[in-house]
Amino acid sequence: MSAPVAIPGLDRAPTKHRRLLDWVRETAELTTPDAVVWCDGSDEEWQRLTDQLVESGALVRLNDELKPNSFWARTDPSDVARVEERTYICSVDESDAGPTNNWMAPSDMKSTMTELYRGCMRGRTMYVIPFCMGPLTAEKPMFGVEITDSAYVVASMRIMARMGSAVLDALGGDADFVPALHSVGAPLEPGAEDVAWPCSDTKYISHFPETREIWSFGSGYGGNSLLGKKCFSLRIGSAMGRDEGWLAEHMLILRLTSPEGKVYHVTGAFPSACGKTNLAMLEPTIPGWKVETLGDDIAWMRFGADGRLYAVNPEYGLFGVAPGTDYTTNPNAMRTIAKGNSLFTNVALTDDGDIWWEGMGEPPAHLTDWKGRDWTPESGELSSHPNSRFCTPIKQCPILADSYEDPNGVPIDAILFGGRRATTVPLVSQSRDWAHGVFQGATLSSETTAAAVGQVGVVRRDPMAMLPFIGYNAGDYFRHWIEMGKGGGDAADTDKLPKIFYVNWFRRDDDGKFLWPGFGENSRVLKWVVERLEGTADAVDTAVGHVPTPEALDTDGLDLTREEVSAALAVSDEEWRAELPLITEWFEKFGDKLPGVLWAELDALKARLGVT
Ligand code: GDP
Ligand code: PGA
Ligand code: MN
Ligand code: MN
Repeated sequence: MSAPVAIPGLDRAPTKHRRLLDWVRETAELTTPDAVVWCDGSDEEWQRLTDQLVESGALVRLNDELKPNSFWARTDPSDVARVEERTYICSVDESDAGPTNNWMAPSDMKSTMTELYRGCMRGRTMYVIPFCMGPLTAEKPMFGVEITDSAYVVASMRIMARMGSAVLDALGGDADFVPALHSVGAPLEPGAEDVAWPCSDTKYISHFPETREIWSFGSGYGGNSLLGKKCFSLRIGSAMGRDEGWLAEHMLILRLTSPEGKVYHVTGAFPSACGKTNLAMLEPTIPGWKVETLGDDIAWMRFGADGRLYAVNPEYGLFGVAPGTDYTTNPNAMRTIAKGNSLFTNVALTDDGDIWWEGMGEPPAHLTDWKGRDWTPESGELSSHPNSRFCTPIKQCPILADSYEDPNGVPIDAILFGGRRATTVPLVSQSRDWAHGVFQGATLSSETTAAAVGQVGVVRRDPMAMLPFIGYNAGDYFRHWIEMGKGGGDAADTDKLPKIFYVNWFRRDDDGKFLWPGFGENSRVLKWVVERLEGTADAVDTAVGHVPTPEALDTDGLDLTREEVSAALAVSDEEWRAELPLITEWFEKFGDKLPGVLWAELDALKARLGVT
């Protein structure tokens, strides 16, 4: 047996948690960092890390009067988004990863990645970040521990998750946690100069659903490196939800209050960069309605003792798409970041030390762009990467709902599924019932965006906006959704299920212009949703569900003709008939795993479209 390696900090562990200590030691011995730091989440730690990152050139401190305690980061131009091609679900059986995920046997992945991790933290500090997804006051707090060699990741995790000493204390000596290992994969040789954004050309984002482990290598970009978010809360979370009877979903959560003071809670699943953050923070344009934010990306939903479905946001921050965010589109996001304490990645820097991005009004005469070059309005290139992000504490959101910290969550009245479709999909439709709603979700389609590496604007099926995030076989995931529709145990409870709607803010006219103004005006759609829950709003029964009549939608004060509203709401049987072979092809991927109920829904849709 070899003697234990002496790595400064390794033995200064402020915990007696055996499994954690063993894992940290094992990882340090494999990755051989220069030092180990146990993160406490304190202001002092934030100060020290951000100072260090400024010193090394990884961050630029913004003007303290404009954006207090905030920083500008630029990634390597190759490391700007989630890497779906390099994301793996390493279940023991390949069939448990299913046809929508990349798969490798856990033992093969572990041997490949162990060789990548060997010595990979040389010349760097290894940080240990205890974190908790969701409130620490939960009956069963959802603990994780991330090990990373990136100080940028530590700073970002401090914004995005509850982390530090309080979590480590709550973890105690034996609580369960998800181990999440991250390395940028760029060891620093003695005497070598570091780059501002270390990363590797070899990337793996791997998940081991049975053992609830995450191994990430080679990327510093948030979606690949902040392992509490997509990796734990969605991929591992969804596998936990399958086993334990709950749902981990790619959903915003909002609270809506009507002019009469009635309160509703709505979740919405839209693919990445399709409007979740904006809807979550919406400022209604219709008088008397109020929206409060609960979450902008992830919802964990389980049945309460009263048979209703409750949602919790496991996150602590907002990781929002920057371009397009402005006081006209998302004033509450602007107010949130104005309070400071934020990280901005791949946006542009103004000459007075503020940030700027496309969509924020008139461009200044000069900027430093996301690649660090001089930029002027004549440059003919975007100043900010289309997937540039703001990372900011959710507690700073001026319309955060008071129930945000409630470990039991909020009871959900309506679920919205939505995508980005230039054609075919109407502004809003209500599903006939739960099974039809699951069909709408399972067949959801959307144009790809810059949030993932790859071609933008290609229509693909993105079931429940979870295509890149389902941690198991999507056929089993559909079955789980159907099962959840049986309610909280008692058959009568199906009345209490949320009603399901399908929205599309992104339909275009023949000139390519959006048919619906979107943003704050989406409150008009929320109003119709509420009126449907109350049974007071009119709808036409179309082939794809109940769609508002143009009169049923409140368009008072909206600068749209009746024809334009009708065009946004139109259901063309011909366009939908063209979707049928695509849906059939999609469903066939799942073979026996596809619940028969969904084939029956497809048959019913065909019948309504007059196809036999
Ligand atoms: P998320 O990634 O799902 O949270 O999406 P975001 O809310 O960050 O929005 C992604 C992009 O879509 C941003 O550029 C927004 O400005 C834009 N967007 C969001 N909501 C709407 C809308 O209602 N209409 C239109 N046309 N664009 C929107
Ligand atoms: P988004 O979150 O959904 O807000 O874009 C990040 C992502 O999904 O990559
Ligand atoms: Mn997301
Ligand atoms: Mn978002």
